[in-house]
Amino acid sequence: MGVIIIYMYEFPRDFFWGAATSAYQVEGNNSLCDWWDYELAGRLQYHSGLACRHYELYEEDFDLAKALNHNCHRLSIEWSRVEPEEGKFSSEAINHYKRVVLSLRKHGLEPVVTLHHFTNPIWFSRLGGWGLKKSTDYFLRYVSKVVEALAGDVRFWVTINEPMVYLYHSYLLGIWPPQERSLAKTQKVKANLLKAHIYSYRIIKGIYNKHNLDKPSVSIAQNMQAFVPCVPSLRNKLASYIRAKSFNLEFIEKAIKAGALDFIGVNYYSRSLVELKGWGIKNFAMDICEDGHSNLKKNSLGWDIYPEGFYSVLKSLERYKLPIFILENGICTGDDSLRWDFIHDHLVKLAEAMASGVKVLGYIYWSLIDNYEWDKGFSPRFGLIEVDYTTYKRTIRESAKKFGRICLEGKLNYGV
Ligand code: FCB
Repeated sequence: MGVIIIYMYEFPRDFFWGAATSAYQVEGNNSLCDWWDYELAGRLQYHSGLACRHYELYEEDFDLAKALNHNCHRLSIEWSRVEPEEGKFSSEAINHYKRVVLSLRKHGLEPVVTLHHFTNPIWFSRLGGWGLKKSTDYFLRYVSKVVEALAGDVRFWVTINEPMVYLYHSYLLGIWPPQERSLAKTQKVKANLLKAHIYSYRIIKGIYNKHNLDKPSVSIAQNMQAFVPCVPSLRNKLASYIRAKSFNLEFIEKAIKAGALDFIGVNYYSRSLVELKGWGIKNFAMDICEDGHSNLKKNSLGWDIYPEGFYSVLKSLERYKLPIFILENGICTGDDSLRWDFIHDHLVKLAEAMASGVKVLGYIYWSLIDNYEWDKGFSPRFGLIEVDYTTYKRTIRESAKKFGRICLEGKLNYGV
């Protein structure tokens, strides 16, 4: 007869609990950025349109987050709203985001503000986007404007969301704007994004210093995957190691080396089952098992559910001796009990990692509400809260209530 031992983990009292969104995915009518441009040109399959109308309904959404006992919220600022034309800044948009941040504060939700979450102003993208030498100058000018406006009310800044995911989709696979496929361009853009992060970090610190404000915490949100060899051949093991190094760690290590990372922002969803079909660079960079060898449960996009990888990713970061902040972890599914299992099982791995000494500041679920999932459109349902796209009515899911209880109590009971 098997014996189940029940454990209880108590999270730190000041632990952050919350959920995330990004501007383009929820706001609606973001007609000034490259994604919208590509959608209208028929270069992307789905149209974001009104998205979740969060631009108007944010107060209502924050009421729900508060009712679910969250104490923080991650959002992003839409650059194309703030700077609709090169060098011309919209005070209306800046004031909007000021109101949003103040509303978060009023709701007792600590804002975690992202400055770049995949989208770019149309003017920037038409000039050449992140491949341009001047791209970082453009970005830094926007960063200064936003940070000057919001500094007093924001402690946590995320400069760039998932640089490696952006590079992979936009410059290697060629799926997302600007739909390029070039290894050389990818390298160039990667260097520009890193530079943009490092200088943004310094600018943010400088602004807080100038205004005598308490030091802010600045990082990036790094998508991290567990890279697992499918057949444990030497080639697959080597590729898994290299991929973890380059996809998960390289950007972070360079930012740390430049003294430009206060915490490590982690987005974790799944694993990648590595199976190489050749010895070429492309094989090493991209090959995965396509033979259906994974017998794990999957989300509705077919990603493996693999909480063990969350633990190993967290442990792999211990050596940097920086606090970690989980900025995204979540599942798209039509089965809400699977959502709860996903959250629960990942929290267990988080608790185990923390009990073993990994320092984590908070856990942010992706996403607060269902939303526009980029090139996959509206069918993936990631939300703690369901959105009806005809009425825009919000409905809290059962999994959200269960997660809400953990946010309130800060305790997790689990059996092993
Ligand atoms: C992450 C993105 C986020 C969302 C989730 C599902 O890679 O940061 O915008 O699309 O995946």
